Amino acid sequence: MKYLMQSIALLLFFPFVNNAQENNYTKAKELVSKMTLDEKINLVVGMGMKMGAMNMPGGAPNVGQTMDKVPGAAGTTFALPQLGLPTTVVADGPAGLRIEPKRVNDANTYYATAWPVATLLASTWDVKLVEQVGKAMGNEVKEYGVDVILGPGMNIMRNPLGARNFEYYSEDPLVTGKIATAMVNGIQWNGVGTSVKHFAVNNQETNRNSVDAIVSERALREIYLRGFELVVKEAKPWTVMSSYNLLNGTYTSQSYDLLTTVLRKDWGFKGMVMTDWFGGKDAVAQMKAGNDLLMPGTPQKRKAITDAINNKTLDVKVLDENATRIVAYILETPAFKKYAFSNKPDLKQHAVLAREAAANGMVLLKNNNTALPIIAAKNIAAFGNTSYDFISGGTGSGDVNEEYTISLVEGLQNAGYTVDAELKTIYSAYLYDYKAKHPKKSFIEEFVNPTPNASELLLNNAIISSKAASSDMAVITIGRNAGEGKDRVVLNDFNLSKAEQQLIDEVSTAFHAKGKKVVVIINAGGVIEVASWRDKVDAVLLAWQPGLEAGNAVADVLSGKVNPSGKLAVTFPVKYEDEITAKNFPGKEFKEKAVTGFMGQKEIPAEVTHEEGVYVGYRYYNTFNVKPAYEFGYGLSYTNFDYKNVKLSSSTFKGKLVITLEVTNTGTVAGKEVVQLYIAAPTNKLDKPNEELKAFAKTDLLQPGQTQTLQFVIDAKLLASFHTAASAWVADAGTYTVKLGTSSLAIKQTATFTLAKEILVEKVNKVLVPTVTINELKK
Ligand code: BGC
Repeated sequence: MKYLMQSIALLLFFPFVNNAQENNYTKAKELVSKMTLDEKINLVVGMGMKMGAMNMPGGAPNVGQTMDKVPGAAGTTFALPQLGLPTTVVADGPAGLRIEPKRVNDANTYYATAWPVATLLASTWDVKLVEQVGKAMGNEVKEYGVDVILGPGMNIMRNPLGARNFEYYSEDPLVTGKIATAMVNGIQWNGVGTSVKHFAVNNQETNRNSVDAIVSERALREIYLRGFELVVKEAKPWTVMSSYNLLNGTYTSQSYDLLTTVLRKDWGFKGMVMTDWFGGKDAVAQMKAGNDLLMPGTPQKRKAITDAINNKTLDVKVLDENATRIVAYILETPAFKKYAFSNKPDLKQHAVLAREAAANGMVLLKNNNTALPIIAAKNIAAFGNTSYDFISGGTGSGDVNEEYTISLVEGLQNAGYTVDAELKTIYSAYLYDYKAKHPKKSFIEEFVNPTPNASELLLNNAIISSKAASSDMAVITIGRNAGEGKDRVVLNDFNLSKAEQQLIDEVSTAFHAKGKKVVVIINAGGVIEVASWRDKVDAVLLAWQPGLEAGNAVADVLSGKVNPSGKLAVTFPVKYEDEITAKNFPGKEFKEKAVTGFMGQKEIPAEVTHEEGVYVGYRYYNTFNVKPAYEFGYGLSYTNFDYKNVKLSSSTFKGKLVITLEVTNTGTVAGKEVVQLYIAAPTNKLDKPNEELKAFAKTDLLQPGQTQTLQFVIDAKLLASFHTAASAWVADAGTYTVKLGTSSLAIKQTATFTLAKEILVEKVNKVLVPTVTINELKK
């Protein structure tokens, strides 16, 4: 009786404790019990993109159905109309909904908003703003008839050359987890789903389908899995996408330890897992691992599952469970609920939000003698190819088909500046000619053989000098693009090309000779080298890849309409070799074992050993005193902030600690500040980074003189490290130092508290143990 009353009370007070899919589970189970074997197999083997050359040998995996509902979507689930289950549509990707903008015999267009890339969104450190972006992105998903967007991407930016870093948030798991939580909450608020990806340790594109990431249990739990853990627990994404790579010897999509033991048992995930497209090798192992949906589904996988059921190497109960989770998902979708989508999301309104988000995530790296905001200059000379062909987002599946991208020069003109006409003519003609010689290729052709960017146009000195005389200032844009399939390289990519260096040299010399300022805009999805050239220019604005309103958002910051408040969520090293992961990226290849793999491409077995352990990003730079060019958390403002009166709810930790801090705008213009709370934990039991980010908060827009009190809540899990031998999160006894900073190196206030007795916060299953010894870095 007592228990009954307790259960009733629980139901009354926590009607939403379970997520929707969990509630659908019973109904889903009943539907699966009515299915034939074929129907169940049709369900777990999804349907893929229709991509000409990529049509599967042996025909479509699921015969008799097409996936034409939303052209350009990445795939669908199989419909079982006899059971009332419609087809559901999944489409990329992190920076906005990726669908075809035009359809055959249809005058309407289906453009979607290219939002600022994930890296920029994380640089806002503004969970409210990111949630708003998520709400608007999810609205496009819903109004275009899609059920799940294949994002957000949440792998850790382990190394600056990772091609997909623009799709990811940060080198830090807390930023990753918190920003992803805001994004998933925003998107799913619409009643559509997300697929957080790529689970897990997919930190490189080189050999992505064959590389074995060898990682210690501790680095996994603290760094590579932690962001996913946060999002699963705090936002309940409908689906998770397993990654392409192997992890400690097993393909992630075939790993029961990862997809069932960790994801479901340790973390309580109730949703569905799908593979990345064509990911993994063994369909039966995938089923057993709890990878419910195989995308985009191939006839071979279909056959493998059928055979395994027939010869009893796969228990039909396993298949039933996979199918049940897929049906539970389907029951939650707009497709099942027969939502009458409009195909008319409010793109104009979304563009306004995209511009706001973009301006709030740009990072002012340098601003000598208040070169910015632009006060008096009216005539601007814009240099660099990318000023005229601004990059809204990265390539591959993370690209969006937006209607337009506002270039830097258009943005400057829209803001009322005069942009030098002769330069515009010269650059436009050069880029026009380059594009004519490099016509747009299909997605697949581009994937296999990416078109190189036009090399930086070399201008003669006479032109540069004449512009230094006739213009009030110079802006130079340095552009970079990357995307899935091919990691970046150091030469002419991470490092500037000779032509770019020459451009910066010549423009700076000419303009400075006339007492005029030079501003560099970095238009990239990831990190580049800055230390060798930044002293030559007056200001550097990191605009990232800011989505379709790019130029307008850059102009907002340059003009001072928006005071920059973005901070780096990734370290900018002085040189690539300073990066501790450089010696283990992209790992070792075993060329002699190469086989023919996906789309006829050579598949080379490889391994990448994470010898740096937990010392990724600032955890490495700060602990080992390697000075970066710009540290994690760094970013300038047009105003200044003062931090005072840090208060702790107690000087001893008793399960929870509340920390408050007063932040005052001491400058002359309104601005927002991102306050970062780092903690240095006792190291008597375990080697630990000097400090780790444990919380952050962004102020409102503070007027000059205005003060805001920020509050941070620290629980025991935030104090804990992963103790491998105990397979547990443990908060060690001792003294903890709270460091409140405007970056990870600019700490403005500190305070200490003690923990009298160690806390065993959480014991987890001992799984994903590396099979080889890793020579891990220690302090
Ligand atoms: C990418 C995924 C993407 C999928 C579907 C894969 O190549 O790795 O991120 O969601 O394609 O387009």
